[in-house]
This record gives sequence, structure tokens and C-alpha cells, in this order.
Amino acid sequence: MATKRGFINLISLLLTGALYSFLATGITTIRPGDQLNVSNNLVSANGIFTLGFFNPGDSKNTYLGIWYTNKDATNRVWVANRDTPIFNNSTVLTIDTTGKLVITSTGDDPITLNSDQGTGNAIATLEDTGNFVLTDEIEKRVLWQSFDYPTDSLLPGMKLGVNLKTGRNWTLTSWLSYIVPASGPFTLSWDPTQDSEQLVIRRHGVLYWTSGVLANQAFEFMPGLNTPFSEYNYSLSYVSNQDEKYLTFSVTGSDMFRWTLTSSGNIEDGSNMVLNGGINLFCYGYESDNGCTNATLPECRSQHEKFEIRAGSFVGTPTDDTNSSLSISDCWARCWNDCGCVGFTNINDNGTGCRIWSGYMEFQQDESGGQRIYLLVSANPTKG
Ligand SMILES: *[C@@H]1O[C@H](CO)[C@@H](O)[C@H](O)[C@H]1NC(C)=O
Ligand SMILES: *[C@@H]1O[C@H](CO)[C@@H](O)[C@H](O)[C@H]1NC(C)=O
Ligand SMILES: *[C@@H]1O[C@H](CO)[C@@H](O)[C@H](O)[C@H]1NC(C)=O
Ligand SMILES: *[C@@H]1O[C@H](CO)[C@@H](O)[C@H](O)[C@H]1NC(C)=O
Ligand SMILES: *[C@@H]1O[C@H](CO)[C@@H](O)[C@H](O)[C@H]1NC(C)=O
Ligand SMILES: *[C@@H]1O[C@H](CO)[C@@H](O)[C@H](O)[C@H]1NC(C)=O
Ligand SMILES: *[C@@H]1O[C@H](CO)[C@@H](O)[C@H](O)[C@H]1NC(C)=O
Ligand SMILES: *[C@@H]1O[C@H](CO)[C@@H](O)[C@H](O)[C@H]1NC(C)=O
Repeated sequence: MATKRGFINLISLLLTGALYSFLATGITTIRPGDQLNVSNNLVSANGIFTLGFFNPGDSKNTYLGIWYTNKDATNRVWVANRDTPIFNNSTVLTIDTTGKLVITSTGDDPITLNSDQGTGNAIATLEDTGNFVLTDEIEKRVLWQSFDYPTDSLLPGMKLGVNLKTGRNWTLTSWLSYIVPASGPFTLSWDPTQDSEQLVIRRHGVLYWTSGVLANQAFEFMPGLNTPFSEYNYSLSYVSNQDEKYLTFSVTGSDMFRWTLTSSGNIEDGSNMVLNGGINLFCYGYESDNGCTNATLPECRSQHEKFEIRAGSFVGTPTDDTNSSLSISDCWARCWNDCGCVGFTNINDNGTGCRIWSGYMEFQQDESGGQRIYLLVSANPTKG
């Protein structure tokens, strides 16, 4: 009986395995002349990562990206053409005879991923680490790899820092909104500061937040990282030699490990937990006990003011700016610097553009169906 059950288990294991590889195995290698189109994907050897074309939300814009195969497809860890979307889904990814990785599409300019690093023996594979690598098959030499061109996410094994020889700077840049991959306002880099290297977030190039120094596998201002209650335990290593200075991390297990710099300027892990917690949604300039950078306060603002997200509506007419280059933190900065501003939110469905309420306006809370609004609140009772 036991043997029979063992046999059946073996059969079902084989069937599940076969089914799994049938589902997961798209193409595993791209060679010169091969084409990857919108209806097929490149899959890593053990199926952990997938590379393919995607349209975020209902957008007509097409992007080439990498995601964890078995997770919510909105979790893109890399985007090849974030600032040059494709508007026609006749698009394909190919390797030409000189070893150039090119995205071509009718009506759009071709996009070359590796400008001068091709050879005639180039093959492209997606590794189980999430690294999309172009290799010279004869010389066994890496010609180009996606890990050198980070988007908004750091995966185990990726580097954040600088290569002093090549001048390469591995930096994360946030998306413009939760649904628009275009380069957003925030960058995360590993920068030399007075005493040592730190993680640094800049907003439009201006210092915004610093992590504090790395000690005992923790950063002073990243309270969510490596606590006894953490879902993931990271092993952080800081490498500094003549050639390179960088931070990298590893983690054991096979879950969705990544750090992502969000469009509102936070660092989140794979379960969307904020690692640099303690920030009151934004860095206002009056606090430094959470890593935020001190800055000059607008004259009419005080240390008692901050924004909270509430569902509801204002009685009064807002000012709208539908400019789709504006990210939520741009709306925050407009409101914070406008003495009369009492609230703001995005105006476009894709999380861009600004709607701003100014003047004495009543806010009516409505948890059931209201709009999500960033409402100015004051902790100072005398100011109300
Ligand atoms: C994509 O390529 C496959 C062959 O690899 C082909 O069967 C399929 O029709 C193509 N899809 C489109 C939309 O061109
Ligand atoms: C683009 O692709 C989608 C999904 O494959 C399809 O529904 C749509 O008709 C295509 N659009 C064009 C213009 O080919
Ligand atoms: C998209 O591609 C098709 C066929 O490849 C072409 O007929 C059409 O004009 C293209 N559309 C745009 C908007 O470029
Ligand atoms: C790396 O790039 C970021 C963002 O452009 C920049 O702020 C930072 O100073 C650079 N770091 C180094 C060490 O060059
Ligand atoms: C992470 O390490 C802490 C102790 O340092 C331990 O209590 C916790 O259970 C670990 N968590 C995981 C997910 O391994
Ligand atoms: C930042 O500003 C706050 C409030 O004005 C002050 O208490 C704190 O000491 C300042 N921190 C630094 C590093 O200057
Ligand atoms: C839209 O906003 C961007 C960023 O603030 C700005 O550079 C651009 O000039 C604006 N475009 C228009 C049409 O106002
Ligand atoms: C976002 O939405 C606005 C308004 O609908 C639109 O003009 C803009 O093209 C969209 N941006 C992207 C990247 O889809």
C-alpha cells in the first residue's frame, strides 16, 4: 500500500513538474535572428523570473520588463525602456547579427539596449537571479547585463554604489507613479558622506533622506530592516576596494526578495513593508530623527503640520493641473509651499497631475466612497 501511494505520489509529482515546466517554459534563450514578441516570454531556468512585454494598467504604452513569475504581475523589478515606451504591439526583441539587443516596432524608433558591447556569438538568457545577461557564447564573456542598469528595484546580488574604474553609478530611480514606469522624482544611491557611506534618497537631485551608518546589519533610520519581527532577514555587505564601492544583500529562501524605491519616496520590501518607516508620508524639512534632511521651512508652515491620507471631499473648487509629468510628491511640494493649501491629490487616473485645494474649505470625511486626499492636519491645538 505504502509503495503504491509512493508510486502515485511520484507520478503526480512528475505530472505537476511537467505541467509546471509546460506553463513556465516559454523561451529560455534568444540567439541572433530569434524574436521575442508580445505573446511569448523569456523564462529563467527554474522559472523564477520572466522577461516579456507588458502594458501597465489599461495603458496603450508597451514596455519590456522582468518580473517574479509566480507573483502579482504588477511587481516589475526591471524595465528596459521606461522613458521610451512603445506605442505599437507589433513590437519584438531581437539580437541582430552584430550582437545588438534591439527592441523594434512599426512606427517607433528602434531601441538598442547594449550600445557597443555586441559580438557575433551573442546569446541572451534570463538567470534565476533576475539578471538578463548577454554573453559571448564562445568566449564565455558577459557583454551586457540588466543588473548594471537598475530601474527602481534592488534584487539580491545587485549592487548599489559606484565602479571607480568605469565611472558606472548603480542607482535606483523611482517610477513616476504606481502605474507609470517613467523615471520619477526620487533616486536611491550609496554615497560617501562625512564619516562613511550611507543610503541616500534625493528628490529632484536634492538631498531628502539618509539612512545613517550601517552597523550590525542595521541602519539607524531603517527601523523596518532586520528586526526580530521581520519577515525577511537580510545579510548586508558593504564592499570597498580600489575598483568598487557598493552595498549588496543576500537572503536565504525562495520568496520575493527586493527593495523598491516607490514613487512617493519610500523603500519597500517584497511584502510592501516600508523599511525606512517613521516618515510622516513626506520629509517636511523640520525633522531629522527619522533620517529626513533638515531644510528651510516655508514661512507659513510649522513643525506641527503634516499630511494624512483621508477619504472624503472638500466643499469648494480645486485647482487642477493635468500635466502628466507631475508626480504625487510634486503635488505635495506645491501644496506645502502654498500658504493657503489645505489638501491635494492626483488628477489623472494613472497617478499623475495635481489637484490642489486652497483657502478655508470644509473637509467632509467619507470612508465608504470618498476620494483619497492628502489632508493637511495640525497637531498644534491652538492653531486648529
Ligand atoms: C509570436 O511568435 C510566435 C512564434 O514564436 C508566433 O507563434 C506568434 O504568432 C507570434 N505572435 C505575434 C503576436 O506575432
Ligand atoms: C495589441 O495587443 C492586444 C493584446 O494582445 C490586442 O487586444 C490589441 O488588439 C492589439 N492592438 C493592436 C493595435 O494591434
Ligand atoms: C502598427 O503596426 C502596424 C503593422 O505593423 C501598422 O500598420 C500601423 O500603422 C502601426 N501603428 C502605429 C500607430 O504606428
Ligand atoms: C550617483 O548618482 C546619483 C543620482 O544621479 C547621484 O546623486 C550621486 O551623487 C552619484 N554618486 C556618485 C558617487 O557619483
Ligand atoms: C530573523 O532573525 C531574528 C533574530 O535575529 C529571528 O528572531 C527571526 O525569527 C528571523 N526571521 C526569519 C524570517 O528568519
Ligand atoms: C533639525 O531640525 C529640528 C527642528 O528644527 C532640530 O530639533 C534638529 O536638531 C535639527 N537637526 C539637525 C541635524 O540639524
Ligand atoms: C509639466 O511639468 C514638468 C515638470 O514640472 C515641466 O517641466 C513642464 O514644463 C510642464 N509642462 C507644461 C506643458 O506645463
Ligand atoms: C497618464 O494620463 C494622462 C491623462 O490621461 C495622459 O495624458 C498621459 O499620457 C498618461 N501617461 C502615461 C505614461 O500613460
